Amino acid sequence: MNETTPVCETQPATTVCRDVRRPIGMLCELTYRCPLQCPYCSNPVDISRGRNELSAAEWQDVLRQAAELGVLQIHLSGGEPCLRQDLEEILQTAVEVELYTNLITSGVTLTRDRLARLADIGLDHVQLSIQDVDPEGADLISNYKGGTEKKRDVARWVKELDLPLTVNVVVHRHNIENTARIIDYAVELGAQRIELAHVQYYAWAQLNRAALIPTREQFYHSVKIANEAKERLKGVMVFDVVAHDHYAKRPKPCMGGWGRSLIDISPSGKMMPCQECETIPGIEIDNVRDRPLADIWFKGQAFEMFRGTDWMKEPCKTCDRREIDWGGCRCQALAVTGDAAATDPACNLSPYHEEFAAIAERESREAPPPFKYRRLG
Ligand code: SF4
Ligand code: FES
Repeated sequence: MNETTPVCETQPATTVCRDVRRPIGMLCELTYRCPLQCPYCSNPVDISRGRNELSAAEWQDVLRQAAELGVLQIHLSGGEPCLRQDLEEILQTAVEVELYTNLITSGVTLTRDRLARLADIGLDHVQLSIQDVDPEGADLISNYKGGTEKKRDVARWVKELDLPLTVNVVVHRHNIENTARIIDYAVELGAQRIELAHVQYYAWAQLNRAALIPTREQFYHSVKIANEAKERLKGVMVFDVVAHDHYAKRPKPCMGGWGRSLIDISPSGKMMPCQECETIPGIEIDNVRDRPLADIWFKGQAFEMFRGTDWMKEPCKTCDRREIDWGGCRCQALAVTGDAAATDPACNLSPYHEEFAAIAERESREAPPPFKYRRLG
């Protein structure tokens, strides 16, 4: 069965066919612990929610169920997933059940031996986060000294071990002027893919919006540089550019559409349609400790809440893009309009769009306040 096949569930007396696809990918947030303190972190502001982490045996069970459910690829993430001393055991099971495995890491705690061990087990891909091309800038944004040198080593080891490498860069007002140099740096590191992701303003980034937001001109200029580089580097490096919402005309299909293809599992086993959905009033989030994955995916209240288009209000309800962007991001709609079922304010058809863009225009022209670094308390 592929991901486009509607699923039929046979009940005792009836057969119900619904257009619920099987999930393709799963983000496994193994821990919220992290040596870095980036102020745009997508982990919850209350990091203590990640206490009571799933054990390796629990993750192994989750992975087996995920493979059975149809998941094809998993992202081993965090926080910093390499802080889990049992990462090897978890990876081993993922490989055994034939999931494509992507390690998303800052690299700063990795050793060559450990990376070689992960490669031996069968790790498929490494996604290395880079904060900036300038070491001082990288240290400032991560509140961590000496990361740049370490990341250069890690990138070299990844290549020596013949693993594919993606360089992942979050773009904001402190590094946006370096876009061209960051792209050159990724080429120099031997990356086959670069992800230039403008900050998504929820969780820690929402707290730090004024410190991170670039001007509209900076944003357009950086996109132009990325587009030119994309042409120039065809066949060398693949580009994935995640645009800045405040300066957009239409929103992105957040998580590929709610409950359509992706699952997020928190360190303590909450199974969620997106990382930020705990902020939504009335949502009931199931835990993989209490309920099978398939049951949560097909019938969980949280996954059903904004699945499809029935929940939409105008202008989304009758818009011809409603099955393209799925109304954008529910969490951003909630944060800005107070209603998670409203049109994402990134859409210029939203009555909140003008005000949303104006906030960015204003804050980006003021002097940036100091960062509120991501840390407990
Ligand atoms: Fe997308 Fe809704 Fe905007 Fe239409 S109105 S483009 S569906 S967010
Ligand atoms: Fe929750 Fe976009 S972050 S739907």
